[in-house]
Amino acid sequence: MPDIEPAWQQLKDQAAESAGRRIVDLFAEEPGRLERLTLDAAGLHLDLSKQPWTLAAFDAAVDLARAAEVEAARARLFAGGAVNRTESRPAMHMALRAPDGASFTALGQPISREVEAERTRMKALADAVRSGEARGCTGRRYKAVVHIGIGGSDLGPRLAWEALAPLDAPIALRFAANVDGFEIAQALHGLDPAETLVIAVSKTFTTQETLANARAARAWLRDALGEAADAHLYAVSANLDAAQAFGVASERTFAFWDWVGGRYSLWSAVGLSCAIGLGWEPFQALLDGAAAMDKHFRSAPLERNAPALLALAHVFNRDGLGRPTRAVVPYAQRLRLLPAFLQQLEMESNGKSVDQDGAPVAHGTATAVFGEPGTNGQHAFFQMLHQGTDVVPVDIIAAAKADDGPPEHQTMLLANALAQAEALMVGRRGEDLPPHRRFAGNRPSAMILMERLEPRALGALIALYEHKVFVEGVLWGIDSFDQWGVELGKAMASAILPELEGGPAQQHDTPHDPSTAALIARLRSSS
Ligand code: F6P
Repeated sequence: MPDIEPAWQQLKDQAAESAGRRIVDLFAEEPGRLERLTLDAAGLHLDLSKQPWTLAAFDAAVDLARAAEVEAARARLFAGGAVNRTESRPAMHMALRAPDGASFTALGQPISREVEAERTRMKALADAVRSGEARGCTGRRYKAVVHIGIGGSDLGPRLAWEALAPLDAPIALRFAANVDGFEIAQALHGLDPAETLVIAVSKTFTTQETLANARAARAWLRDALGEAADAHLYAVSANLDAAQAFGVASERTFAFWDWVGGRYSLWSAVGLSCAIGLGWEPFQALLDGAAAMDKHFRSAPLERNAPALLALAHVFNRDGLGRPTRAVVPYAQRLRLLPAFLQQLEMESNGKSVDQDGAPVAHGTATAVFGEPGTNGQHAFFQMLHQGTDVVPVDIIAAAKADDGPPEHQTMLLANALAQAEALMVGRRGEDLPPHRRFAGNRPSAMILMERLEPRALGALIALYEHKVFVEGVLWGIDSFDQWGVELGKAMASAILPELEGGPAQQHDTPHDPSTAALIARLRSSS
């Protein structure tokens, strides 16, 4: 690991200097600011000129990326090296969306052919379900797909479906993630089992929530149609043995691999429900958009590299200026799940306190991400963004054109997106105004514009954030691809479950704390 502390210090010094400046004044003071801080990549336009950095601070941020050897780390990522060191695994999500004929490897083993083979199977099933060639056990056409999975096996497909589903989709997609029984009940409610295909998606095929929901869906199918209904149940997993042990035949099981992280897996058969619901062509376009961003990320110099610069802007706020939260506001109702998707992508990837060598990290890591679509968010938390005591940087995402709904709505939506970004930066500071009507301004935003919210653009947008997270991980020296922090709670839930089910209380070597013990006792006595 190179010593990058001098570069960090340089960034922090420049941040202190930038903090005393007003962003809006920098446009006049710094010739070329707009040109240097805006760029186009894979069909997206990124504007980082309303970020709180002077151009000297921007240069210091790029120097930090160089000192951290981001380019060498990027080369290792694309070469299929074990960038996930605690699990000795590569992170080869780029291989899943590469066009046919690519030659990616994972730990030296070729992987592109098996990716293509699985993609061919996905396309065949998607086409067959949509054409009616593949039917349910009673001979009826499938009209609904229920996608069961959680975390990375849910959020990407759910986001893609919400973002891209046509208003008159011939096949409805429903999702069930939560072990709260309401969600699977809601997902199945009103569907005809004879016309419903169920896909259980789990990388490990050991996840409690997913197995419980898959069992419930299978019981629902069998109750209506008998054991023949098992033909309606498909599985997607990196643990094929467990999927088969669960009772899904191999011809109805789709593979993905240990070398892809769950939250990076939309591009694999994890996206099968979307491929069926949207059709193959849009799904392929989603992959192509992500592949275009991969190409840009892999080849563009750091100072013109969209994922790298977005990472540097976020890190500049996080560590240079001490801002631990960030809002994500898509001005597109169909992107309403983007904040939830990014919560997992960013916080599960980079919410770490030790570096790759196990030593405490030297700088604050993942920001807490929250958000809602614009304009809704304006009527909720924007008060705090404009006048609260903490500065919360905002990512604003918008599409220039939209095809659904009254055309004048899109113009209103865009006017709001631009106005909020401008208002946050410029503020309103007249001395003649009463204090509660003043806006300090100088609050940063990043703007990401696309032409239309189409599959290609969505693919590029998600890949932009994936690579942004990777670059941040390199700057912080952490493993962005493991998630050990989710294990403890899972293990404790497994221990508490039998106690709530009426088994003997306090079975463990370690007794519960008094609060938890009292809550367990209360819940046991209420049953
Ligand atoms: O929450 C932990 C986690 O392991 C996520 O990383 C993952 O996306 C999710 O659970 C689901 O895991 P699986 O796909 O193995 O069911």
